[in-house]
Amino acid sequence: MTTTPTPVSSTPATPVSRAPLSLFVLGTESDPHSERGVECPGDLPPASDPALVERARRAKAALGDRLFVLGHHYQRDEVIQFADVTGDSFKLAREAAARPEAEFIVFCGVHFMAESADILTSDRQAVILPDLAAGCSMADMARLSQVEDAWDVLADAGVAGVTVPVTYMNSSADIKAFCGKHGGVVCTSSNAKTVLEWAFQRGEKVLFFPDQHLGRNTAVLEMGIPLEDCIVYDPHRPGGGVSPEQLRAATMILWKGHCSVHGRFTPEAVDDVRTRIPDVQVLVHPECQHEVVLKADLVGSTEFIISTIDKAPAGSKWAVGTELNLVQRLAKAYPDKEVTFLEKHVCYCATMNRIDLPHLVWALENLAQGQVVNQITVDAETERYARAALQRMLDLPGRSAAD
Ligand code: 13P
Ligand code: SF4
Repeated sequence: MTTTPTPVSSTPATPVSRAPLSLFVLGTESDPHSERGVECPGDLPPASDPALVERARRAKAALGDRLFVLGHHYQRDEVIQFADVTGDSFKLAREAAARPEAEFIVFCGVHFMAESADILTSDRQAVILPDLAAGCSMADMARLSQVEDAWDVLADAGVAGVTVPVTYMNSSADIKAFCGKHGGVVCTSSNAKTVLEWAFQRGEKVLFFPDQHLGRNTAVLEMGIPLEDCIVYDPHRPGGGVSPEQLRAATMILWKGHCSVHGRFTPEAVDDVRTRIPDVQVLVHPECQHEVVLKADLVGSTEFIISTIDKAPAGSKWAVGTELNLVQRLAKAYPDKEVTFLEKHVCYCATMNRIDLPHLVWALENLAQGQVVNQITVDAETERYARAALQRMLDLPGRSAAD
């Protein structure tokens, strides 16, 4: 599978008109307590419109080099076909930073990814998220006020000065800014080990949020930190539900957050697939629970999962534990290999799936008409510190698994 689809905008540029039909009005306000917004002003073309593909092509062609479309691997096929580049969150952050000439960056992914793109691009560029309701439930599990409270708890235990805050990319811009301000850093699933090594050169402990599973899997399985040196800080319990002694003894302080999609894979599913498919290899994302990763053969980011299947010999069998759009695409792209979904139950990421063709067409046609819609803007103060944390990550010797 190539991760960079063939450009589809071969249709000559013609005037683009906006959809007259209205549907999917999602509300008119944004929720300050949610990482995702709820506002989607304007009219959307209906999902059943057979001309949507053609309209997306036409709008893309009309915008030409002014537009760059980024697509995360969990996006629907109907959307991913219009991406100029596809990737995991690390690769997409780098790609956004490397496009200073693009006036509009349309981000087919979720809100925290579009925020990161805005932080890494110039003020002349607009980052657009076709549906503001495309948030991330994991990112919502760590709020700035909770993280500030946790830092106070660490200070009271006398360990804040020796702790480096590390946030997963899947977090809001203000959390990234907190890390930037406190000597911390951002990581993604493809560089968590490198980032943690960097952090442990600067402090004795790491406060890792929002995904306890990525933190635990990386610390224990890739860095050899004993499981008992990892404790879980629960933002919903007084003092995080841990004692000052536990905080002083711990090496990894893991935030009690998780991905609602990857959290559904179970160790039993691994046993089951091994019984059903002899010689199957189990390949999972590090957001899966530790017990699942322990039973898997390989673990890595979406980019790693794709390159592993790509390099695998014909006839090999794979059970993949990650979002279903990607697994289905891999199964279609490699008919000579047996690629199956690890769980029996459907496991789409509901918020990634919010970006559909009607929303993409709506965004592109508005841009082609000179109207910027759904722009994601991070305020200057937050941006300054969040960029520091992101830049620390980008400056590390790191790569996307497909490089
Ligand atoms: P990647 O960093 O592998 O792209 O994953 C992002 C994500 O949201 C996984 O759930
Ligand atoms: Fe968030 Fe999980 Fe969806 Fe990724 S798959 S965007 S972590 S909810």
